[in-house]
Amino acid sequence: MVRIRAINNKNLWRWCVVMVMVTRSVADGIGVNWGTMMAQPLNPGTVVQMLKDNGIKKVKLFDADSWDVNALAGTGIEVIVAIPNNELGRFSKDYDNAKDWVKENVTSHKGGVDIRYVAVGNEPFLKTYNGSFIQTTFPALENIQKALDEAGVGNKIKATIPCNADVYESPSSKPSEGNFRKDLRPLMVDIVKFLHANKSPFLVNIYPFLSLYQDANFPINYAFFDEGSNPINDGNLAYTNVFDANYDTLVWSLKKAGVPDLKIAVGEIGWPTSGGLNGNVESAKRFYDGFFKKMASGKGTPLRKDAYDDVYLFSLMDENLKSVAPGNFERHWGIFQYDGRPKFAMDFTGKGSNKMPVGAKGVQYLEPQWCVYDKDNRNMSLVTENVNFACSMADCTPLGYGSSCNHLDINGNISYAFNIYFQMQAQDMEACDFQGLAKITKVNASEKGCLFPIQVASTGHRMKLLLSSPIGAAVAIMLLFLLL
Ligand SMILES: *[C@@H]1O[C@H](CO)[C@@H](O)[C@H](O)[C@H]1NC(C)=O
Ligand SMILES: *[C@@H]1O[C@H](CO)[C@@H](O)[C@H](O)[C@H]1NC(C)=O
Ligand SMILES: *[C@@H]1O[C@H](CO)[C@@H](O)[C@H](O)[C@H]1NC(C)=O
Ligand SMILES: *[C@@H]1O[C@H](CO)[C@@H](O)[C@H](O)[C@H]1NC(C)=O
Ligand SMILES: *[C@@H]1O[C@H](CO)[C@@H](O)[C@H](O)[C@H]1NC(C)=O
Repeated sequence: MVRIRAINNKNLWRWCVVMVMVTRSVADGIGVNWGTMMAQPLNPGTVVQMLKDNGIKKVKLFDADSWDVNALAGTGIEVIVAIPNNELGRFSKDYDNAKDWVKENVTSHKGGVDIRYVAVGNEPFLKTYNGSFIQTTFPALENIQKALDEAGVGNKIKATIPCNADVYESPSSKPSEGNFRKDLRPLMVDIVKFLHANKSPFLVNIYPFLSLYQDANFPINYAFFDEGSNPINDGNLAYTNVFDANYDTLVWSLKKAGVPDLKIAVGEIGWPTSGGLNGNVESAKRFYDGFFKKMASGKGTPLRKDAYDDVYLFSLMDENLKSVAPGNFERHWGIFQYDGRPKFAMDFTGKGSNKMPVGAKGVQYLEPQWCVYDKDNRNMSLVTENVNFACSMADCTPLGYGSSCNHLDINGNISYAFNIYFQMQAQDMEACDFQGLAKITKVNASEKGCLFPIQVASTGHRMKLLLSSPIGAAVAIMLLFLLL
């Protein structure tokens, strides 16, 4: 991104214009991740309007679904389209597949949609994947970039790999001691040289929340940006937050790989609003407030002035079908709730004004009716398996420790599970049976502080896809033990 600088502007009017442009360049750097792992995704047109209403100029997708991509046509919003990990094999083996992909998912949109990057895989080298995508990712990257080049769009549209920050590490808390992970080092060196040669950025996902979540001794203030923590010194540089230290560990790793000036974009950064420990609205607000302020200051990290110029918040909306294997917080990363209502005030310009973001407009809901436990049915022996089933399919994380519905009594717990499944099944009457344990009511079943949501009426083209996707069975069993 080109930053506009204020030089030689003597009269006030022009100065004001420049001020506006400088401010805008902050907001211009902010993108969002638009994931759709939800039972009833909002209509893409509604989502795109919401992006426009909030002045968001960049969006990162997790696939290249033409319905979403087409909704972005003519908006001027910059787009990252993506190839999921499980498809990487197809592109590593066969260049023709890459050519076809680029033809169908990039060049067919030419002119209308401002595609800037193709994300090849999503955190494919994550430790938890046990190396499953190590063989396929780099060849897929090469083939996609080659196909972009041959299609004549390679100058503008770059292929890259969104990496989790776990591809590099430091034996201490000092960035200067960092380098790419030992088991990946030769591969990462090849990849970053390739990116450099193609003028593609390194796309990295950095999560201060996880640093804190995973380590009980982590100094809490170091996860935020309000300088409340003792600095960590690295040579003559001082670090007051883990984001900067993490980012600069990457800068050092690139330096050691021989590409010190490789451009870096932050593919994911954010804070969840539920899921226990520090996953809550207050912490999320503190994190984003500090982050936007830091972005607006233009100071960057100790090593990179432009570190905050190109970032994608994670994420736009809560996604109730994400796996909760990493933790219950996984379904609560949204700046907006599942139906596009904002959760808390935030100021993308970093000026600290306490305004709510603009919510989704014209959202249609299903009927105001709820599926609840029929207390007249006293046969408790069937409850366990039915709750287990409901929670294996739908999102029961709000019942978990530290979440909004954790205070319900046993009947409330059962009703919550039944209702959330019923809503997820678009209020299909048959989805509110549970072997005779459930009934439908028009009385709002929400209880103090715990929302029993009504789902949005979705055009539902993704439904069949989602129903066939495996949703954490292990999680269901865990929840079962918690529940009963
Ligand atoms: C284009 O992208 C879509 C959505 O990600 C995918 O299903 C489809 O297979 C891709 N097309 C080709 C030709 O690979
Ligand atoms: C990775 O390996 C661990 C330990 O061997 C295993 O528990 C886990 O299921 C594996 N994960 C994947 C995605 O293969
Ligand atoms: C049900 O009640 C909750 C809590 O008072 C409220 O937030 C929600 O909007 C209500 N739902 C409907 C559909 O009226
Ligand atoms: C409760 O349900 C179980 C399983 O269907 C059945 O075997 C049992 O007889 C029922 N008990 C009562 C009191 O109805
Ligand atoms: C309801 O479920 C939550 C979360 O699983 C649990 O902590 C709580 O103890 C349950 N309440 C009752 C009364 O079983």
